[in-house]
Amino acid sequence: MNGFDIRNKQKKYNLQSWSKQWGINPISVEKADGIYFWDYEGNRYADMSSQLVNMNVGFGNKKIGDAIKKQVDQYCYVGPSYGDESRACLAEKIVNLLPDNFGKVFFTNAGADANENAVKIARMFTGKNKILSRYRSYHGSSFGAGNLTGEPRRYTLEPGIPGFIKFFDPYIYREAIAFDI
Ligand SMILES: Cc1ncc(COP(=O)(O)O)c(C=O)c1O
Repeated sequence: MNGFDIRNKQKKYNLQSWSKQWGINPISVEKADGIYFWDYEGNRYADMSSQLVNMNVGFGNKKIGDAIKKQVDQYCYVGPSYGDESRACLAEKIVNLLPDNFGKVFFTNAGADANENAVKIARMFTGKNKILSRYRSYHGSSFGAGNLTGEPRRYTLEPGIPGFIKFFDPYIYREAIAFDI
């Protein structure tokens, strides 16, 4: 397929997040390497954040690609109640990087999922209900994480989850108070 056909097919069949659907015009990406990606017309783009920063390891990182291939050859998935070498070893590595009071790692699918689980764990641990988050914040787009989110993307989820409370954090840079000092 060429870039034009891909763009049109995507516009027709994919719901693109956080966008007015009639206004989108995505660049079709043909290949990527290191900090660069290329569109189908041969234009090269410098991308310092590997798209969304969530996998900011550069495109085509061979060590990561090899590790993924090795895991796929062993198996793609085992359930949480089974022993899995990769999961256990990665958790150990993470725990060893953290301060002493961090005991275990719970792997989730994404950031929103992680935040929702953090809320559940905090509520179970403390027995308390209220969850405070900042108005100037984004915590994910699922229902729970979207309710934690303070910025306007939460509006469609209002009136929201009971116990989720928003507050304004200090932000001296653009606050009116800065002009009085
Ligand atoms: C601060 C913060 N929290 C949570 C999320 C949600 O992560 P995900 O999109 O992986 O669910 C994001 C995503 O941009 C984020 O920036």
